[in-house]
Amino acid sequence: MKINIRLNSEKDTEKLANIIASEVFQGMIIGLGGDLGSGKTTFTKYLAKSMGIHDNLNSPTFTILKTYEGKLDLYHMDVYRLEDIGYDYELDDYIYGKGVSVIEWYPFIQSMLPENILMITFSFIDESTRDVSIEGSEQYEKVIEKISHRYSN
Ligand SMILES: Nc1ncnc2c1ncn2[C@@H]1O[C@H](COP(=O)(O)OP(=O)(O)OP(=O)(O)O)[C@@H](O)[C@H]1O
Ligand SMILES: [Mg+2]
Repeated sequence: MKINIRLNSEKDTEKLANIIASEVFQGMIIGLGGDLGSGKTTFTKYLAKSMGIHDNLNSPTFTILKTYEGKLDLYHMDVYRLEDIGYDYELDDYIYGKGVSVIEWYPFIQSMLPENILMITFSFIDESTRDVSIEGSEQYEKVIEKISHRYSN
């Protein structure tokens, strides 16, 4: 299932994160795509907040991975520089771990990922507007339908 929605402001991005946070489960994998500055980290910040994580979440670009403890742990990865650092980096423990994985620039490691992930791709429209495509197979149909329902435009 695939839907396209428009986010007119950061508030809309927060709303999207809130809906997804209400449907998180152990082992959930969220792949984030889209250009530099399109909103991947911003989305993840709101997701963490909505998952009850109070730590300040910032961009993990130079560390590839940051973990946050919550009712469900959040593993925030940014694989943009993985090529420089080396693919032998042990991400599998997290990707197949007990928490929720959010992977910025997931297309870079798509071959290492299971097929069944929730893919969210941001496109820059103007300073505050983003178009977002959300795609996932069966396991993610419920959350995608919920989003589609709230954002019908
Ligand atoms: N609707 C919106 N949704 C998300 N971010 C928005 C929105 N409108 C404006 N912004 C701004 O766009 C910027 C997005 O930056 P962010 O770091 O989240 O991008 P990114 O996709 O993670 O970039 P990178 O690829 O460098 O990691 C932030 O400064 C944010 O405040
Ligand atoms: Mg980022």
